[in-house]
Amino acid sequence: MKSEKGENLMEKIVSLCKRRGFVFQGSEIYGGLAGTYDYGPLGVSLKNNIRNLWWKIFVLDRDDMYGVDAAILMNQDVWKASGHVKGFSDPIAETGKQFNLMFQTHVGASEEESAVSYLRPETAQGMFVNFKNIVDSFHPKLPFGLAQIGKAFRNEIAPRDFLFRVREFEQMEIEYFVQEKDWQKYFEEFRKKMLDWTKEIGLDPKHIHELEVSDADRAHYSKRTIDFEFDYPFGRKELYGLAYRTDFDLKSHAEASQTDFSYLDEETKEKFTPHCIEPSFGLDRMILAVLLDAYTEDELGGEKRTYLKFSPKIAPIKAAVFPLLKNKPELIKKAQEVYKNLKKEIADVVYDDNGNIGKRYRRQDEIGTPHCVTIDFDTLEDNTVTLRDRDTGKQERVKIDELTSRLKGV
Ligand code: GAP
Repeated sequence: MKSEKGENLMEKIVSLCKRRGFVFQGSEIYGGLAGTYDYGPLGVSLKNNIRNLWWKIFVLDRDDMYGVDAAILMNQDVWKASGHVKGFSDPIAETGKQFNLMFQTHVGASEEESAVSYLRPETAQGMFVNFKNIVDSFHPKLPFGLAQIGKAFRNEIAPRDFLFRVREFEQMEIEYFVQEKDWQKYFEEFRKKMLDWTKEIGLDPKHIHELEVSDADRAHYSKRTIDFEFDYPFGRKELYGLAYRTDFDLKSHAEASQTDFSYLDEETKEKFTPHCIEPSFGLDRMILAVLLDAYTEDELGGEKRTYLKFSPKIAPIKAAVFPLLKNKPELIKKAQEVYKNLKKEIADVVYDDNGNIGKRYRRQDEIGTPHCVTIDFDTLEDNTVTLRDRDTGKQERVKIDELTSRLKGV
């Protein structure tokens, strides 16, 4: 398939991910399991960096967010009240029959109906059912949000396009509770924040498009939804979404569980059920978008190369340290010293003395390392090193003393 980056971009990404240890097919040695993928060391780092950045921006940097980490298995009544048992289904193409996308399992030894449980198809419900716990323990004032990162499972009828549609994936979600009269204001606020986030992780704004989801296509709980779509090589499709879930979930759970989910406004003494704005992000889909936008082929010094133009904030490796030559003990000693000192300050630093220097640069370019640091004979004389920039290939001399702050500043 052709994209603006040439033929077969998806194939190139899948192959790079496997070759360099980002993402592997799930259960590969047994022929795989459709819709599942395993992350290797570089994929884990990339995922951790994106996850941590998201948590920092959307939770830690704010005063109105509360973290939750709910169990994946929940009482089946949660999914009855939420509407998922009845309505979370897709039609099967040949027969038009509805197929529920939730993975069903049994809790304990009993096969009876009462022991049925589901792997959660969204993290959201883990937050709604804990609404009262957070209110009772933290007494937050409206508006406030609950945030959660975790796995979600959907028995998709047709998993496809690498990490785009899988059966096990990770969501990063916020349920933001507001007074009904304020919902539009906070919807707009999150709409902007979600766009800012795409820049934060280095996505090209030209590839992001907002889609106002029509009445017919919206989920059963939503009164308004905007999908943020991305230009994948296989078409313009959803990346993540923003929904106005009204008071649907809190009301449904209050009624079904006979729990009082109302909120008391201390000032006005008014009691009401808050309404909810939900920004929902799929982490795996985001990783695919990040890889697609980062993938670049160019020519450097007359040679073709492939590199990943990751934003330094999320790059799996921040810098690689090399001795210019492998067989000079004094260079190795100095390079090891620089490496160890850097690593104390920046965890994602690697050491490499394998092959010639040009090959080492290419290897780091291919996995998106923003900087390479080379120790040469001048280093032994003047304590400066070569700092090479991934995107331009340009090199400059930098004092060892200034290296940490230079790399941390990126
Ligand atoms: N709580 C709301 C919710 O779950 P959704 O639009 O069904 O809404 C939210 O899912 C996000 O989760 C999507 O925008 C997408 O990023 C991700 N997602 C959903 N299904 C997925 C799948 N099968 N594979 C990968 N990511 C998926």
